[in-house]
Amino acid sequence: MSELNKIALKIISNGKGILAADESNGTMTKRLEAVNVKSTPENRLSFREILFSSDGMKDCIGGVILYDETINQISSSGESITNLISSSGAVPGIKVDTGAKDLANSTKEKVTEGLDGLRDRLKKYYDLGARFTKWRGVYSIGENYPSKLAISSNAHALARYSALVQENGMVPIVEPEVLMNGNHSAEVCFNKTSEVIKKCFEELILHKVDLSGIILKPNMILSGNLSENKISSEEVSIKTLECLKNCVPNEVPGIAFLSGGQSEIEATENLNLINKNNNTNFIMTYSYGRALQQSALKVWSNDIKNVEATQTTFNHRAKMCTLAAQGKWSSELENK
Ligand code: G3H
Repeated sequence: MSELNKIALKIISNGKGILAADESNGTMTKRLEAVNVKSTPENRLSFREILFSSDGMKDCIGGVILYDETINQISSSGESITNLISSSGAVPGIKVDTGAKDLANSTKEKVTEGLDGLRDRLKKYYDLGARFTKWRGVYSIGENYPSKLAISSNAHALARYSALVQENGMVPIVEPEVLMNGNHSAEVCFNKTSEVIKKCFEELILHKVDLSGIILKPNMILSGNLSENKISSEEVSIKTLECLKNCVPNEVPGIAFLSGGQSEIEATENLNLINKNNNTNFIMTYSYGRALQQSALKVWSNDIKNVEATQTTFNHRAKMCTLAAQGKWSSELENK
């Protein structure tokens, strides 16, 4: 077993999942302002530190994705944030892309940037304690989208990023996110997501990326958020499994879904059914941002000194997701 494969398995095994706490300052500001909390470096750290020092972290979280600001901050007890995370048994990770920018000649689409100087930044993050990384490519569904150009440019960047990350001893999370925005059907999402994922693996293989040392972070197969024909959770799970079975090579150790705007319960229920129906060899877990933090953020915003209530809320959510990652969740457990 390679070192990279061991790190990947440590992050996603035994029902553990990933806490995606890598919101950029811009995104975090929107999230904090939505609950009337001022977005300062101190407040951003304070909320995150409450999550990182919770019991839910120890019991459920195998990896945390950080943002550049956070990985460089010091916790209230004086230790580094990566030590705080490691001491709970989780692996510290870092988002290394620099965001999705307009794609030339396809102006309604995005290509993710951040390859310039990446090798040097990766060395710095490794020294700070990171052992895995994240890069997100983002694709919209529309009549003519995602275009071949967007699919191939993002796949190329994801592959170059992954090769550099592995060269520096870390596990790349490969995140091609086909957005749920729109009125498209689940079938369209299935077809577009399949095309996107297949292209990613074509490029990863071309760039000689060790597939046993990556984690794929895809969207689930859903109908668009404006679609009138929503499919059931059971159908989401079946279509998602079919897509991944067709498109992901067997060497990949695991898949950690993004929540992508689903509610906490939807994201949990869908993951649970994916695991119940799992007919693949892949570990199927979560790498949730909003679906892990939304309720905790709300509770915290009522009183930012109330660590206990915030942690209790987060612990519950993390526990539900971890049960779902083992196919052991049920809606009754939500109210216990
Ligand atoms: O890149 C996306 C985040 O890491 C996951 O966030 O679960 O809120 O979609 P989300």
